[in-house]
Amino acid sequence: MIKTNWTRRTLLGTAAIMALCASAGAAQAGDLEVLHWWTSGGEAKAISELKDSMQAKGHKWKDFAVAGGAGDAAMTVLKSRVISGNAPTAAQIKGPLLQEWAREGTLSNIDDVAKAEHWDELLLPVISNIVKYQGHYIGVPVNVHRVNWLWVNPEVMRKAGVKPPTTWDEFFTVADTLKKAGVTPLAHGGQSWQDFTTFEAVVLGTGGPEFYRKALIQLDPASLKSPTMEKSLSTFRRLKAYTDRNAPGRDWNLATAMVMKGEAAMQIMGDWAKGEFLSAGKVAGKDFLCVPAPGTAKTYTFNVDSFAMFKVKGEANVQAQRDMAVAIMSPSFQESFNLAKGSIPVRKGVNLSKFDDCAKASATDFADAGKANTLLPSIAHGMAVSPSAEGAIKDVVSQFWNSEQITPAQAMDRLVAAAKSQ
Ligand code: BGC
Repeated sequence: MIKTNWTRRTLLGTAAIMALCASAGAAQAGDLEVLHWWTSGGEAKAISELKDSMQAKGHKWKDFAVAGGAGDAAMTVLKSRVISGNAPTAAQIKGPLLQEWAREGTLSNIDDVAKAEHWDELLLPVISNIVKYQGHYIGVPVNVHRVNWLWVNPEVMRKAGVKPPTTWDEFFTVADTLKKAGVTPLAHGGQSWQDFTTFEAVVLGTGGPEFYRKALIQLDPASLKSPTMEKSLSTFRRLKAYTDRNAPGRDWNLATAMVMKGEAAMQIMGDWAKGEFLSAGKVAGKDFLCVPAPGTAKTYTFNVDSFAMFKVKGEANVQAQRDMAVAIMSPSFQESFNLAKGSIPVRKGVNLSKFDDCAKASATDFADAGKANTLLPSIAHGMAVSPSAEGAIKDVVSQFWNSEQITPAQAMDRLVAAAKSQ
């Protein structure tokens, strides 16, 4: 009798444990279809960190990569997927665009994760505000990219007897010498977002942080049409003569490869370019240099990547989203991901000892620029203005770059008109 009771109890216990395991198993095995545009060498390495950590938790990772720098193509695909009622589990969405998706009512509120993980204490308001809608978290920030960098091949510069330029005037002197030496001074990919990335660096280096703020964040018409904007446009246009004939349409990572191989001396690009140098085995400070884009020392244009979660059905899938949000903000992920991506950790308290000097400089400059009020959202990377104004301004900038027929005066009128798409 005693034995029977004991056996019964054991059996019941085992059944209970099995049921628990089954439900825990179900809760763990969620489907994670994640839309992103990280397809270059460094980017792919970085996203695989996330994939690995989600698979280690037992979730099924379905990679939804849409190639195309800065995510323009990815955002178009996302729209059509959501409209057709087939939203992914999570998507890389950034800046004011997050607000637009939240307004549509399609994003999940992740306040409970944020609260349990103390995000309010771990994130600076300049970052948490980007991923909140009406005071609620609707996005998980991943990193901080600095956009106003100049990437330099030191060997090419040494051979030509020149140093990295610190102003735009210096840039043209250095570039003339490089051109005479038979090197392409500036590696560029003629895609509108790359033109725009270069343009915002020129505006910042020409007009300074206050002008950048007025013109490209506040979209003040008197600044968009001003002698300083005219000078910025002329300087921007002058750069074209220092790029190569094959620039139109080139992907940004191929432009970075030109600097790596010594075919070009410099590239203006955010520090995802560093991810490319690193994934090719190059060493910061030796094989490549990172210096602020001309005239932009002591300022910092930032670009924060983030993921938003779409409303999904099924407890397991919701749990997978939560696990992804927790993982992204964890110190170990922040370290491994950002080491590959070229960016710096988005949360406080991550040890930077494994990071190179470019990342350390980025972290110091980010903090200093925050104090000096020279920390500025990048308009070219979806941080500064509404997506419609950004798109319209980007078009004006690219048209100006591509057509010598458009005068700076005409371009300024078009900028003022485009800014009204706000
Ligand atoms: C994103 C980066 C990405 C880059 C090139 C930027 O807008 O923030 O994460 O690496 O575009 O695709």
